[in-house]
Amino acid sequence: MHLFKTTTRATLCFLLCLCFLLIGCFAFSKNKPVESQMPTVETVVTETINISSLYPSHMNEDIVMGFSQLGSESDWRLANTASIVESAKEAGITLLLENAEQSQQAQFSAIRSFIEKQVDVIAIAPVVQTGWENILQEIKEAGIPVVIIDRSVNVEDTSLYVTFIGSDFYEEGIKAGKYALDKMRNKPGGIRIAELEGTVGSTPSIDRGRGFRDVIQERDDMEIIMSQPADFTIEGGKKVMEQFLQEAGEQPPQLLFAHNDDMAIGAIQAIEEFGLEPGKDIIIISVDGTRQAFEMMIEGKINAVIECNPLQGSLLMQAAREIMGGRTLPKRIIPPEDIFTQEYAHLEIDHRKY
Ligand code: AHR
Repeated sequence: MHLFKTTTRATLCFLLCLCFLLIGCFAFSKNKPVESQMPTVETVVTETINISSLYPSHMNEDIVMGFSQLGSESDWRLANTASIVESAKEAGITLLLENAEQSQQAQFSAIRSFIEKQVDVIAIAPVVQTGWENILQEIKEAGIPVVIIDRSVNVEDTSLYVTFIGSDFYEEGIKAGKYALDKMRNKPGGIRIAELEGTVGSTPSIDRGRGFRDVIQERDDMEIIMSQPADFTIEGGKKVMEQFLQEAGEQPPQLLFAHNDDMAIGAIQAIEEFGLEPGKDIIIISVDGTRQAFEMMIEGKINAVIECNPLQGSLLMQAAREIMGGRTLPKRIIPPEDIFTQEYAHLEIDHRKY
């Protein structure tokens, strides 16, 4: 009996100890930081594709970014470059900047030099939208994440870049078309439209033109009678507009859609030299929203400006930090944009930062 009691007591003691041990283990595991309870990298790789699993070697280091800027053709572009340079400084990110001056080949060379230097992230503002597959593949093989900025790339495999930060150019064209319809609503008869396109093959030129056409087709008697690329520059805008006016003779266009402010400013010079009044004889709609375009709106020479925001630097640096921190990003990031008309330009001009 005594022996039985002793054995039972010993068993009870043992069971109690086991219970305490189990409770202790459970409580400890509950108090552990979340990270230490995460599955190992291997498990993450098989279960969820996130950025840290794609680019593990770049985490937690000082960031070096290679940035291939496409050129310096417009005030918008200068503001875009300045925004990226300043934001890199503010974010403590080392920026290697190469300006390709409108050459896709120069962009490829710059990108290859970034790969050689083993930068942590590559940002590309592509001059045109096609022809990027091979170089993006080279970057992927080097294990470097890519951010596309401003203009987009036409690639089937969108995993070749992490995110695309840039305006919705199609929407900008839609806004321009809606303004044109509204402005000309009481004008009877056929409306002759001239269009100054941007760089051939570039996303803003393609998409703005498409958006504009999709809207104005609502009115059968509105017709784009002349359309030509003028490279997003003042000189280009002036030259092509002179040509348009010569060709049109007695029947000049009643409305001009310029794909950016610089070309609109060049066109205004041509229109004035031709003896017509910009903003009255020819209604002018442009895109960007530079300070100079606002001045022209206040002078009555431009009727409406569709905003395209070049201040993308902080978004880019933030994206780089997120990527390096192993966090996921949306595939598309669109900055907020507005539309401005002559009537309210004076209220906005002092707020323009470019
Ligand atoms: O890609 C953005 C466009 O490029 C801007 O509208 C234009 O001004 C610039 O050159």
